[in-house]
Amino acid sequence: MLKISDVDKKSKAYNCWLNYENCSVGEYQDFCNYIKVKSTHPIINTAIEELKFGLNKLMKKEPLILNYSPKSSYIFVGTLEDLKNEKLDVQIKNEILKEDGFAVKIVKEGDTDVLAIIGQNEKGVLYGVFYLLRAICSGNSLNEIEIEDGPYNLLRIINHWDNLNGEIERGYAGQSIFFKDNKVVEDLSRVKDYARLLASIGINGVVLNNVNVHKYETELITDKFLPDVSRIADVFRLYGIKIYLSINFAAPVEIGDLPTADPLDERVKKWWKEIVENIYRYIPDFGGFLVKADSEFRPGPFTYGRNHAEGANMLAEALKPHGGLVFWRAFVYNCMVDWRDRTQDRAKAAYENFKPLDGQFMDNVVLQIKYGPMDFQIREPVSPLFGAMEKTNVALELQITQEYTGQQKDLCYLPTMWKEILDFDTYAKGKGSTVAKVVNGSLFGMKYGGIVGVSNIGDSKSWTGHPLAQANLYGFGRLAWNPLLSPKEIAEEWTKLTFGHDEQVINTIVSMLMASRDIYEKYTAPLGVGWMVNPGHHYGPNPEGYEYSHWGTYHYADYKGIGVDRTVATGTGYTAQYKEPIASMYENIETCPDELLLFFHHVPYTHKLKSGKTVIQHIYDTHFEGAEEAKGLKEKWLTLRGKIDEEIFEMVLERLEMQIKNAIEWRDVVNTYFYRKTGIRDVHNRKIYE
Ligand code: GCU
Repeated sequence: MLKISDVDKKSKAYNCWLNYENCSVGEYQDFCNYIKVKSTHPIINTAIEELKFGLNKLMKKEPLILNYSPKSSYIFVGTLEDLKNEKLDVQIKNEILKEDGFAVKIVKEGDTDVLAIIGQNEKGVLYGVFYLLRAICSGNSLNEIEIEDGPYNLLRIINHWDNLNGEIERGYAGQSIFFKDNKVVEDLSRVKDYARLLASIGINGVVLNNVNVHKYETELITDKFLPDVSRIADVFRLYGIKIYLSINFAAPVEIGDLPTADPLDERVKKWWKEIVENIYRYIPDFGGFLVKADSEFRPGPFTYGRNHAEGANMLAEALKPHGGLVFWRAFVYNCMVDWRDRTQDRAKAAYENFKPLDGQFMDNVVLQIKYGPMDFQIREPVSPLFGAMEKTNVALELQITQEYTGQQKDLCYLPTMWKEILDFDTYAKGKGSTVAKVVNGSLFGMKYGGIVGVSNIGDSKSWTGHPLAQANLYGFGRLAWNPLLSPKEIAEEWTKLTFGHDEQVINTIVSMLMASRDIYEKYTAPLGVGWMVNPGHHYGPNPEGYEYSHWGTYHYADYKGIGVDRTVATGTGYTAQYKEPIASMYENIETCPDELLLFFHHVPYTHKLKSGKTVIQHIYDTHFEGAEEAKGLKEKWLTLRGKIDEEIFEMVLERLEMQIKNAIEWRDVVNTYFYRKTGIRDVHNRKIYE
């Protein structure tokens, strides 16, 4: 039977929210001495191992595993199917629990009290076990324990941008845990520890390699690598997680001796069919492909005069007989666009490319759409494509790794941003047509849908480099499972599980997390204008540095004004991609929210915001405030010395210090830039470096 590796020997930061310290079974004790299970399904075995491991840590003794009912109270573990052979009086109201759902109930068997964990399927059982352990460690009382729960989204997936050489594109937490020196790593114990973390938050899919598929990774789909890829799949499978691979659209040419990768060419279709059949020989439950095509120099169907539906469907046809999916990314734009040409607006690209194809994708294609029309900025509007694809499966793509949001040096708790995105009303079918409802398929009645996050983990001790960035991975999983949760309750839950129940610790960390996105936004790019980062690595300020605006600044700042006019009246016309009343809200400068003003409008620096401040004064004020508030984060953290594991305390402190430096640099560079451009002084006469 599967053994959980001895995680305690490693750094405390390694155990994340599954450390089971600082809490005990308390009033659950009576149930916890015995676990009854009949099924021997591998995922149920995992569930039992996890329950045993957790309870052992909480009770300091191992529960007994039985396949019969003991005379005293016990925990029953099984699927709805397993329940049929039991004499337990379990009433499930939600008649058919959703796929992967579970129920936890306290029921009777004769005179005996039984705590029943019932899964709709085996994965549901595993999620039910993690729910119980989480509830105990969060201090939830026994009379609050009953639940019938199921995931809001069918697909809850992590994308790794890992390369076979072990590097991670936009990775800020060390090297890949899957690959090293152009091979799959031998020892997969860390992969298993990772699978535990993911399953505990309900993740059910992982894409192993980078969307930018280079020479070596192109061969991941061949016999050269499949035996090793299947070893990884074996580990994840026990935790109910399917694996997927990113593919190179030009693979038939690059590794297959074909003269073309044209998706309508019969030889190409046959080539992919054979490739796919071979993959399923190694990995019978393979999830499918992720494709970045015709974007940032990646090959795609455009080369052959074909559209994206034709490209995606060719792969979907090959995968369909095996139950596989194609995640086709909507991140398609011309990165060489000349920003001086005002008719060419990058923000419009995804919609322009994909809206005309709505209805043409096969039903096992999922269009994976980044949350905004640009690229994971700290503030951008929600992509209008979510309200526009009525006959296409879609998934929301978020970036857990903090590329533009502080690179896991700066604290930036992202669930606050993600929640705004999920709650955004597209008005696609009238009021209440939120992104959450679009992406889970319910709004338009689609078969597949879900939420995808670009991973923030690597082989660092704490997985995420910044130990508090673990909250982003945790929050991602929790929101993918249930977008109705609030970012604050997720932060509280995570803090309790990770650091225990000391009120001061909880309040301090939760307040730091909850404030962190605003703080980061204040000292970086203002009012939705985006980027302003150093080219290439994207950390630190550089107001004109963004690499894909070679022909002048994308934000059009001159001595008079700043911002991109995306209105229909006088600008690029982007606002028309939204449904009413959103389109008019953004079009009209009076109703456009302040925080997105410069995304939608070009205004003079003296333009007054709704806050009553001018744009220039807002820039100065927020940058001074942001840098001060970054210092405040450190002050808060210092009050926890001695109350937190010392190593974690120091790791966070070190990063908070880096953040302060970064915030000061941003403040000075941005304020100086605008002072020089405008010659307008700060009304408070604070020192701006000139
Ligand atoms: C960003 C990021 C790239 C990445 C790309 C993508 O532009 O900087 O590293 O490849 O997004 O999502 O494909």
